[in-house]
Amino acid sequence: MTAASAQDFSVARLFNLGGKTALVTGGSSGIGLEMARGLLRNGARVIIASRSRAKLDEALAELNDYPEVQAFEFDITAPEDRLGLAAEVEQRFGSLYLLINNAGTNWGAKLEDYPDAGFAKVMDTNVNAQFALTRDLAPLLAAAGNAELPARIINIGSMDGLHVPIVQRLPTFAYSASKAALHHLTRALAVELAPRHITVNAVAPGFFASRMTRHVFEHYLADIEADCPLGRIGKSEEIVGIVTYLASRAGSYTTGAVIPVDGGTSISKGHRDYLQQN
Ligand SMILES: NC(=O)c1ccc[n+]([C@@H]2O[C@H](COP(=O)([O-])OP(=O)(O)OC[C@H]3O[C@@H](n4cnc5c(N)ncnc54)[C@H](OP(=O)(O)O)[C@@H]3O)[C@@H](O)[C@H]2O)c1
Repeated sequence: MTAASAQDFSVARLFNLGGKTALVTGGSSGIGLEMARGLLRNGARVIIASRSRAKLDEALAELNDYPEVQAFEFDITAPEDRLGLAAEVEQRFGSLYLLINNAGTNWGAKLEDYPDAGFAKVMDTNVNAQFALTRDLAPLLAAAGNAELPARIINIGSMDGLHVPIVQRLPTFAYSASKAALHHLTRALAVELAPRHITVNAVAPGFFASRMTRHVFEHYLADIEADCPLGRIGKSEEIVGIVTYLASRAGSYTTGAVIPVDGGTSISKGHRDYLQQN
């Protein structure tokens, strides 16, 4: 890098994702699909990967303005599927600049009814499999990064891993625990992978429209908005924005961070009561 380019603080240079290779797990719907769209819009080459072929095909139809997208059918909890995905990434890209660990699941039930199988499924999908896929893709990420421009891992955590969620009215014990675990795994992997020129960060979203939140928005949208200091749910561009920062040159020196994108909800306990009293 020349001294002149190091002082080029233009947005075009700092946030450029042109030609970067990216894998978005759970990229067939919701937040994952929006992140894939944002990466493609900014010139990245993207693989989206999830279980349902039908949903992947729907996503491809939505992204048909972008020839640089490809879909891969896989279950993140299946070791052979993870290895198959790693082989596909290697064959298509040779290395991997950006891994977004976004696939996730939830289970809500009262304490006395909460099934072992539900708890295990959430932990397996949201924590164990994220770790295993990251381990399996680390060599391809290391091959894409260097000291000046490291490769990137972005884990999609949740504000529910920062606070105890109440607005759903139905406890989600495993989900909160899994996201808190993913946040801490982010820190551990950031330290581990820094010498291999890979940064690891987490984004902790608040409420965004998706299949996962459809039911809760139908019943509790007013409460969700009242609980949020900014008074609304999030917009896709606000997730795309943070991911663009973490993935770009501008984010090269940020690692081990857990960044809430929740309108302040996770830090505003008692906010609604305060508003009602004032
Ligand atoms: N929406 C929100 O308000 C919100 C807030 C905080 C955090 N998040 C997090 O954001 C991420 C995306 O959620 P979303 O809200 O966008 O929900 P979504 O629309 O239901 O997306 C979940 C994605 O993950 C995939 N997936 C689920 N299980 C999988 C598995 N075993 N293997 C591979 N892919 C799997 C799904 O596709 P298939 O079912 O076809 O596999 C889908 O593409 C999750 O990690 C979630 O916890 C969301």
